[in-house]
Amino acid sequence: MKTKTVKYEKIEIPIGDGKSPYMPQKASKFVDHGNIMKTLAIAVRDNLAVLLIGESGTGKTSAIRFLANQTKNGLRRVNLNGGTTADELVGRLLINDKGTYWVDGILTEAMRSGDWIVLDEINAALPEVLFVLQSIMDDDGYLVLNEKDDKEIVHRHKNFRIFATCNPPEYAGTKEMNKALLSRFAICINAEFPPANKELEIIENHLGNAIAKSEMAIKLVGLANETRTAKEQGNSDYVINTRDILNTLRLTEFMNPMEALGLAFSNKLETADNKALKIIAKLHLPLTKTKAKATRKAIKIANDLKLDGNYIIDADLQNTYLGLTKDDDVFKEMIEKDLGTIITDYGTNRENAVKGDEIKIEATYYENAENGAIKNNSETLGDRIASAVKIVNGPNKGKNAIILHHKDLDNSIEIIKNLFEIS
Ligand SMILES: Nc1ncnc2c1ncn2[C@@H]1O[C@H](COP(=O)(O)OP(=O)(O)O)[C@@H](O)[C@H]1O
Ligand SMILES: [Mg+2]
Repeated sequence: MKTKTVKYEKIEIPIGDGKSPYMPQKASKFVDHGNIMKTLAIAVRDNLAVLLIGESGTGKTSAIRFLANQTKNGLRRVNLNGGTTADELVGRLLINDKGTYWVDGILTEAMRSGDWIVLDEINAALPEVLFVLQSIMDDDGYLVLNEKDDKEIVHRHKNFRIFATCNPPEYAGTKEMNKALLSRFAICINAEFPPANKELEIIENHLGNAIAKSEMAIKLVGLANETRTAKEQGNSDYVINTRDILNTLRLTEFMNPMEALGLAFSNKLETADNKALKIIAKLHLPLTKTKAKATRKAIKIANDLKLDGNYIIDADLQNTYLGLTKDDDVFKEMIEKDLGTIITDYGTNRENAVKGDEIKIEATYYENAENGAIKNNSETLGDRIASAVKIVNGPNKGKNAIILHHKDLDNSIEIIKNLFEIS
């Protein structure tokens, strides 16, 4: 009987018997954006060791897992970071009341049974581990169990395969890869982050079409890509990877976008990075429902008033934004992004804003940032209104927003109409 095979672009590899207890039972579909499956298939067919280099979350493990699942091969994994010893790979002598007995390590088990093995973070392996790996990766590679009484020699089962992964070389805190070992990998794959459309496809495979098509998913992928570019350019130390995106999206069902991003990702960062990312994220991620509602209201008022692109932002809207940030600069940026306007300052006398029964235009006014911030500290209502009129009709006509603090918005609008001579 002919053995069954699977094909990846003409590269045909046999399907195994599926008897290994370590065969991945489930594997979500691998979205192949860099011809990785074909390369892995060649490696499996020709019995070549493969090294996958790439940032965490670029799908290195998923690719191998998927192939093992499809070809019904057992897959063992060991992380060589954090002091994994040669014993753990090869095996060790243990003692019981009858004397000593030998227990195979994970590598020895895989070599005997014909499972595949993935060596994660191989660049961080101890010298004694590298020594073992080098010996089994030679052409006729085998393993000598030196500590075992009979000094058994273990040969590689015909189905045994070696895969290794590591982070890109410039990664802080990892050792440079041992050259002798590196040369024993016949194939080296650079795993990259997927382009946006492929990443959305991955999201769809994991979380379904509705989430993949959501504004949140699309914007989060955009944000992730910004962090990737920033890291590439040496401007930051972290990236949002596909796993982080999936984890964030799982949470957005139950909470607002910023909260989800915090819990799934940014709280793991150093405080300064966390803060910086949140500032960028607020500009990227979709509006919360209340914020969207308040924004629509502001736009409607502006349109109603025909203020020629100037927006009137009432205290409700401001409070909504302030609920999202306490940072003045972020607040300004958010307003600019959502409403397309540069705004007046809002903060100075906020506590007093709604006291009294006459309308107050409470903000101190700034002109468009291009012209530098001009603060108007005038105290009387008349002065404030005069500043407002000056700005609204000034060189940045159509690019301003004024924040009103007043309980009675409708009444405020009437007063503004009068002030700006709008009919
Ligand atoms: N190309 C891809 N196709 C399908 N899922 C992917 C892909 N890339 C990443 N993922 C998903 O992203 C997460 C991280 O991938 P993983 O393979 O663990 O990355 P790595 O081993 O490079 O750190 C997993 O949940 C995985 O399912
Ligand atoms: Mg991995």
